Amino acid sequence: MSSLIEQATRRLEQLRQAGVILNTSASEDSKIYISNKSNIDIPSTVLDDRISEKNIKLPTFSRKVELDLDALAVAGIVSPNAPRSQIADQYRVIKRPLISNAMGKGPSPIENGNLIMVTSALAGEGKSFSAINLAMSIATELDNTVMLVDADVARPSVLRMLGLPASPGLLDLLVGDVDDLSSVLLRTNIDKLTLLPSGTPHLRATELLASDAMSQLIRNIADRYSDRIIIFDSPPLLLTTESRVLATHMGQIVMVVHAEKTLQIDIQHALSSIEACPVKLMVLNQAKNGVQGGYGGYGYGYGYEQ
Ligand SMILES: Nc1ncnc2c1ncn2[C@@H]1O[C@H](COP(=O)(O)OP(=O)(O)OP(=O)(O)O)[C@@H](O)[C@H]1O
Ligand SMILES: [Mg+2]
Repeated sequence: MSSLIEQATRRLEQLRQAGVILNTSASEDSKIYISNKSNIDIPSTVLDDRISEKNIKLPTFSRKVELDLDALAVAGIVSPNAPRSQIADQYRVIKRPLISNAMGKGPSPIENGNLIMVTSALAGEGKSFSAINLAMSIATELDNTVMLVDADVARPSVLRMLGLPASPGLLDLLVGDVDDLSSVLLRTNIDKLTLLPSGTPHLRATELLASDAMSQLIRNIADRYSDRIIIFDSPPLLLTTESRVLATHMGQIVMVVHAEKTLQIDIQHALSSIEACPVKLMVLNQAKNGVQGGYGGYGYGYGYEQ
């Protein structure tokens, strides 16, 4: 048995030197179990067939990143360190119908109900803020694992808002520079939260997002992670066309509306561009409320259409 461990350690070192394993510390925070089938099982990572050797399966590790949960809580992001905050309470209400649809427990089954896109009519309405909060809120549930995808590839902000440096991701997969999804996924110190960054900036980023390769990638993600809730931060619907293409793959869409700013006509146009999506949920963001009296949390009122 020890020789298996030695073999695996040697092979991991080779892979690290060959640049296959991106993070030098990845092997340290991934547990290696020796199974009774005389091969090596790595339960929390996906095994990559391309680097399998005989009966030793070798993993492609996802890197692990550390979120500063206290700093995020101060920035108004839902955090397990501040479970009773006002924002956490608000997201508890918003996530309920989304989770139940994703898990097939809603009034009727929703195809691709676990694929949830967060969008808005215009820029700056709070899409990224909402996508992050929703992902954090769902990931702190006992039963639900979440992947947060930064699909606003032309103007990504998820990693920055989370205080993380840029990292390869979606665009690298779409141009074919990386072909294994798990190698660009980032695990976090919230066990149930994984991130798929937007990746290396590309001149044709918006075309890539609307490409067949993206449709294929979404199908792969949906197949491979059918038990996860996948949240896509996305570009605004009325300023881009790729967001509407992305919407066609989704089972549920959260439409963020900047309270007191977005015009009703823009909301109507945005909603009509996502008509085909089975579930649309509208969230009123930055509503003035009695408690804070200004720029602040979410309005409780949301429209739920099915
Ligand atoms: N409810 C809120 N409470 C406090 N700050 C908020 C709230 N909603 C959004 N913000 C802040 O407003 C700014 C714009 O929000 P965000 O980046 O999420 O918008 P967006 O719709 O993703 O914009 P873009 O279209 O540029 O991607 C950010 O600085 C964000 O932190
Ligand atoms: Mg954004």
